[in-house]
Amino acid sequence: MKEFLSEQAIRDRVREMAAEISKDYSDHAPIFVGILNGSFIFMADLLRELTVDSEVDFLKVSSYDGTESSGTVHLLKDISAEITGRDIIIVEDIIDSGLTINFIVRRLKESDPSSVAVATLLFKKEVAQLNFDPDYIGFTIPPDFVVGYGLDHNQKMRNLRNICVLDQEDIAA
Ligand code: IMP
Ligand code: MG
Repeated sequence: MKEFLSEQAIRDRVREMAAEISKDYSDHAPIFVGILNGSFIFMADLLRELTVDSEVDFLKVSSYDGTESSGTVHLLKDISAEITGRDIIIVEDIIDSGLTINFIVRRLKESDPSSVAVATLLFKKEVAQLNFDPDYIGFTIPPDFVVGYGLDHNQKMRNLRNICVLDQEDIAA
């Protein structure tokens, strides 16, 4: 396992993203919709750096088994906020194939929010197949499997303060 992004590099970038979002939403408080479980640490840090009002909700989906996407997205927990006519910012830890975020954007749009933006800490641009461009991207990364700062491997390692790349032996273990 090798460090890919240090705690400091993540902190600096999250602060920049929060500044950008604060500027864009200075006159209309957005609802941040975090995608569980992976986004919880990013969400907590991002919100504490904001200088604008905000509301928070969470949604839970599942598509992964180990390091492989199962190919279908299941909604495990829906949001409870009323989002019709509101400005939504979806908060993701990582966009890999794009399957999850495409599903979530489509689903939230069914409730007629006035806007839907996507903020993702990590973006595997080379492999992602998206119908849109993410509005706020922390880091564009190669298609390696990463853990830490909320991201897991079989539910473990979410508590790492930095982000590490797992190599093949770690994945097999
Ligand atoms: P996608 O549907 O393929 O874009 O995958 C999105 C979801 O898969 C993310 O929300 C993560 O929970 C998980 N995921 C994708 N890549 C990684 C990774 O490198 N490490 C940990 N989780 C990942
Ligand atoms: Mg996730």
